[in-house]
Amino acid sequence: MLLPGKVAIITGSTSGIGRAGAIAFAQEGASVVISGRNKERGGEVVETIKQQGGRAHFVAADMLAAGDIEQLVKAAVDIYGRLDIFWHNAGIVGPDDIQNISPESYEKVMAVHLKAAVFGVKFALPRIRKAGGGAILFTSSVAGLKQSGYSLSYSLAKSGLVMLTRKLAVDLAKDNIRVNCLCPGRVQTGMRPDISQERARALGITPEEWEKRDKKRIPLGRFITEQEVADAALFLVSDKASGITGVALPVDGGFLAV
Ligand SMILES: NC(=O)c1ccc[n+]([C@@H]2O[C@H](COP(=O)([O-])OP(=O)(O)OC[C@H]3O[C@@H](n4cnc5c(N)ncnc54)[C@H](OP(=O)(O)O)[C@@H]3O)[C@@H](O)[C@H]2O)c1
Repeated sequence: MLLPGKVAIITGSTSGIGRAGAIAFAQEGASVVISGRNKERGGEVVETIKQQGGRAHFVAADMLAAGDIEQLVKAAVDIYGRLDIFWHNAGIVGPDDIQNISPESYEKVMAVHLKAAVFGVKFALPRIRKAGGGAILFTSSVAGLKQSGYSLSYSLAKSGLVMLTRKLAVDLAKDNIRVNCLCPGRVQTGMRPDISQERARALGITPEEWEKRDKKRIPLGRFITEQEVADAALFLVSDKASGITGVALPVDGGFLAV
């Protein structure tokens, strides 16, 4: 097992990448705190993990509320007695550009991705230090390394996570805490149908046609699976990656290599 006895919080684990990561972490021996706003979907993830013999608990938290994030960390320690891993994965996406961006939509995207990451780590830090060290992970995106034609605020927030990764990796190395981020390419999750529909509408083509065109830009010729991102996450938070910190790892089928 890769994570025996470890306790992990995964934000945005009620669906998609976070859900796959939670199941993968639990299969490797971690107790996982599932988090998001949707109680029903969170409960489903907990049940799935328990049916497989794993340990998981759902704690509702809205990443737009700093108080919720603080309570989430407290609840994890109250339930499982320690904290070793904090993975901020929650995210939202919506199209915007410099013409149509509004202060409200900008602030929301920055808050869910970046502000929640900063304050999540601030609250988690004393607990991870107390455990003698651990791992912090963020879900950035290829859009954090290469500008996205789809969303200005999303690209800005995701590139902020890459810099936050480097800054914290340097600052927290002395505490035996490694900090890395994942930069997934196109992953088939709840987010994708929305994006495909909006992009197809903008180009006047069907979502199927847009997805076909999109796949042609990926050297592997296909979207990445949630499981493939979860496996990369598992590697980065485990001792198998004990020499790796400050890295932004693309999981993108070669998209950024083109
Ligand atoms: N899919 C892709 O192609 C792709 C590519 C690159 C990066 N990513 C990143 O991967 C991460 C996971 O996305 P996904 O593709 O797995 O999409 P998803 O299935 O839509 O999952 C998004 C998760 O974020 C949570 N979330 C959203 N807003 C929240 C808020 N205000 N407070 C708390 N939780 C919130 C959702 O939980 P609730 O609904 O329960 O609140 C859900 O669990 C995101 O950071 C995304 O930007 C995705």
